[in-house]
Order: sequence, then C-alpha cells, then structure tokens
Amino acid sequence: MEKVTISLGSRSYTIVISSGLCNDISFWPLISGDRVMIVTNETLSSMYLGKILTLMKKSKIKVDYVILPDGEKYKNIKTVDRIIGSLLQKSHGRDTILIAFGGGVIGDITGFAAAIYQRGIRFIQIPTSLLAQVDSSVGGKTGVNHILGKNMIGAFYQPTSVIVDTDFLCSLPAREFSSGLAEIIKYGIALDSSFFQWIEQNLDLLMVLEKHALVYCIRKCCELKASLVSNDEHDIGYRSLLNLGHTFGHAIEAFMGYGKWLHGEAISVGIVMAVRIAERFVQFKSEHSNRIINLLQRANLPIQGPTEMTANNYLSYMIRDKKTVSNQLRLVIPLSIGVSEIRDNIPNQLIIDAISEC
Ligand SMILES: NC(=O)c1ccc[n+]([C@@H]2O[C@H](COP(=O)([O-])OP(=O)(O)OC[C@H]3O[C@@H](n4cnc5c(N)ncnc54)[C@H](O)[C@@H]3O)[C@@H](O)[C@H]2O)c1
Ligand SMILES: [Zn+2]
Repeated sequence: MEKVTISLGSRSYTIVISSGLCNDISFWPLISGDRVMIVTNETLSSMYLGKILTLMKKSKIKVDYVILPDGEKYKNIKTVDRIIGSLLQKSHGRDTILIAFGGGVIGDITGFAAAIYQRGIRFIQIPTSLLAQVDSSVGGKTGVNHILGKNMIGAFYQPTSVIVDTDFLCSLPAREFSSGLAEIIKYGIALDSSFFQWIEQNLDLLMVLEKHALVYCIRKCCELKASLVSNDEHDIGYRSLLNLGHTFGHAIEAFMGYGKWLHGEAISVGIVMAVRIAERFVQFKSEHSNRIINLLQRANLPIQGPTEMTANNYLSYMIRDKKTVSNQLRLVIPLSIGVSEIRDNIPNQLIIDAISEC
C-alpha cells in the first residue's frame, strides 16, 4: 500500500493507493462509526454498490446512499440540490461523512455538496476513474458547471481522505482510461521530464492495467499534485501549472456541450495548442513537440479539435475561463518537457494561429 500526504496544516490528509482495498473487510471500519452517505451514479451503483453496502453493514456503519444519473451534463447546481434534499430527508446532521464514489464528476459534485451542507461536513473520496485517481480527487477543488462556463460554481474544500483502489479500473471503458492518461501526460510535460520519460517507456503496461505500473504512476501523480497543492492551495501561483491545456480544453467542452468530448480528450488538444504557442513564443523544440504528440496518439487521444470550432469560438469561452486576469488570457506554456510557465503576455494573433493549426 502506498501513501501520499497532502500537507495543509489542520486540513492535511492522506491518499492511500493499492489494489483490492475496497474488497477487504478490514478496510471499511477505518471509515469510523459515524453516519455515512454514499454519493454515486447509476453506472457504478449497478456494478459495485451492493457489495460495498454489504461490507459496510458488516462493519456496523450506518449508511445511506444517493444514486445520481451518470454524466458531465448532470454536474450542475440542480444535482447538488438533490444531494442536499436526500441528506435533509434522512435527517443527516453535521457529523455525517459524505463518500464520493465515482469518477471526477461525482467527486466534484459531492465535494461541493459537502462544502455547503450545513456550512460544511466531512467527505471522503473513493475515485473510480483513472482521471479521478490521478487528479480530480486530490487537492480540494470542488464544484459544478454553469451553462455559461465550466466549474464556474464551486469551493476549495479538502476531503478527509482519498482511497484509491486500482481494481476499479478493470471496468473503466477504454476511452475513459485514455482520458485519464491525458492528465498523467500533462504532469510529465508541465512538471517532471523523468516522469514523462517513464510514461513513454511504460505506457503499454499502463494500458493493460499492470498493477505495479498503475500504483507507481498514480502515486507519482499524487505526489506531484501534493507538492503544488501544499504550497498553493487556492491556485494563485504554481498550482496553475496543472492547468496546462485546460483553458483551451474547457472551451471545447463548453462549446460542444458537456460530455460530448471527454475532459481528457479536450485537454489533449489543449496541450497540443499550448505546445504550438510555445514553439512560436519560447522556441520550444520541435523534437519535444513530436515526443508529446506521439505519446498522446499512443494513448489514443485526439490531437485536433472539433472541426466545427473556429478560433473565435475558442476565444469567447477562454476569456470567461477563471484563468483570465483583467481580461488578459493567462496560459500555461511548456518551456521544455518537464518545465512550464504561466504567461499573460502572449499576443492574441499567436494564440489564434496555434488554435487554427490544430
Ligand atoms: N477537481 C479537480 O481538481 C478536477 C481535476 C480534473 C478534472 N476534474 C473534473 O473531473 C471530471 C471528469 O472526471 P472523469 O473523467 O472521471 O469523468 P466521469 O466522472 O464522468 O467518469 C467517466 C465515466 O466513467 C464511468 N466510470 C467511472 N469509474 C468507472 C469504473 N470504475 N468502471 C466503469 N465506469 C466507470 C462514469 O460513470 C462515467 O460514465 C470533469 O468534470 C472535470 O472537470 C476535476
Ligand atoms: Zn483536468
């Protein structure tokens, strides 16, 4: 079992990473004797909820659950209201622990519900998608989408623990697995060249769900994220480096309608756009661009945006993204593989050219 700590003073917590954890009867009593409400979706509940409820009940945990429809399009304020309604109907108080059991969508919605229910109750993340295991379950960004922009309603609110069981990945559809790989590749490009090289060498093992490779890779991503989050919880400095590709990607997700393009797919195209800017703006080497594009393609990720989107379509969404300061776009661009920087002085035409090229 691997452990990574997020150091945030009294809000510190541990991420536990292993295979087979949630099937282990000795694991569940660690959730303590408080009341628990599991939040999950229809897909995951049909596969796993019965088994989990049995194990929890054997451990004498008082558990309720709420099952949401599956999909990014339900990541909205109405769904949060539904969770709050369930909590109230079942008379849950401030001692209840919410458990987010699902991918990033369930994690983001549940975390936000936990942040605002009775001014804040505890929550635990049990991420089941690769993307959630390497990224979204860690760091305390919670929230939902607004029709005018992604993640526009939310709060920074840390979980009390994160439990990563790689066995859940066995049922994850291949396209979703690739979406998670986009975030993994992002960590390498933005922060760590030797990890990027490790991904190049071990991608095939990851794609056949080899346990040791998976646990190492997830731990590495969590460690990289932990170091940024511990120093910049509210994303005003270096944590923003994790937004590599995201300003473009969020524009694709919002323009296409949430859920049509997977988050990681949109981020993959966004990374290529950031690379194209870097080639023109900071002389990013073309051999590095080729390595990145090659790796994204090996991971079955797109490198070209939706044909129906024009550069202006991108810009209109990008300007609304949270990364703008006084309407000036702030973008993360790689300087070389493993080193990146936030820039707010990129000429608009250069951004338009990079978008048009993809
Ligand atoms: N909070 C953050 O820091 C952060 C970071 C990155 C992404 N995100 C958010 O995360 C979301 C994307 O997360 P995601 O990619 O996990 O999407 P998701 O939650 O929609 O899950 C993807 C699909 O896989 C299914 N699924 C999940 N685990 C499964 C399993 N083990 N077996 C079978 N099916 C499974 C889900 O039901 C869903 O259909 C986006 O909303 C994005 O904005 C948040
Ligand atoms: Zn992301």
